[in-house]
Amino acid sequence: MAAMNAKAVSVIDMDWDAFDPWRIQPLTHTLTEHPLLQSDQLVALGKRCRGTSRWYSFSSNVSAGTNFDDAASLFPSGQSAVDSLRDIANANAWVLLRHIQADPLYQELVDFVINSIRSQIERKDPGLYYRAGWIFSASPRTATPFHIDRSHVVLLQVRGTKTIYVWDPDDTVVVSDRARDCFHMRHDLSRTVWHEEFRDRAHAFVLKPGTGVYMPLTSPHMVETSNEASTTISFTYNTDATRRIAKIHVMREMLNRMGITPPAFGRNNIFDHAALAAASAIIVCRGPGGHPPACPSLLHKSAYAVAD
Ligand SMILES: [Fe+2]
Repeated sequence: MAAMNAKAVSVIDMDWDAFDPWRIQPLTHTLTEHPLLQSDQLVALGKRCRGTSRWYSFSSNVSAGTNFDDAASLFPSGQSAVDSLRDIANANAWVLLRHIQADPLYQELVDFVINSIRSQIERKDPGLYYRAGWIFSASPRTATPFHIDRSHVVLLQVRGTKTIYVWDPDDTVVVSDRARDCFHMRHDLSRTVWHEEFRDRAHAFVLKPGTGVYMPLTSPHMVETSNEASTTISFTYNTDATRRIAKIHVMREMLNRMGITPPAFGRNNIFDHAALAAASAIIVCRGPGGHPPACPSLLHKSAYAVAD
């Protein structure tokens, strides 16, 4: 019967033949009307996240240059995340519901989406693991500060419009090798610093509902909403390649701290192989809670990301 049906519509559609895991790429999707992404369900999820580390919010007063890690403490939102979600258009707030895969209802959504694209991804980027989902609700004229993330990101715009500025994952003018080294070591963003002149180097996407963008590991990005409220969901995952790269950066940062400057990232295969072997041994020996690494994804290839 299935063969007789009209051609199935993909949940996420992009040019998979051109897909390169290390290249930023636009996409389209069909999730805008999904029941779990409507306001009442987001408020219900927000209530279930109360008392956990699975939410984060700050006020609309942040700018592109605010340090992402400091945003919530420097610019606290005037109301609870749940109240903000109820009336995000007037909340003057930015709310993130983190690690939605920890919620049984939303874990199904994460699996539904990731499973729908997994075979296409793994043709070119094998070993997908550590899947996670994140929902962002933002009031009009709100910025998400400049930052990098620890996974590949599939970002989907659900409601409202916004402009996302993304820089290439190997753009070391915008984010240096050292900044990526210390990010992978401790998720430290103190060297990931915004300068207004970076805008000219960005890939800028004006996202409307049903569109989105794929961003490789540690592609710097910054977001500005328009005059309307915005809801966005992103799905993240790691692969054999992201794990390898993160380990090399961890080893590089250990050398930096010993006063040894490693070669430019990715330019010396012998160094990279040695750094990978050394980092793997150190991570195995030190184990969970050891020092380094920061990210549990380097210790265990778990199917789902671990809420921290
Ligand atoms: Fe991000």
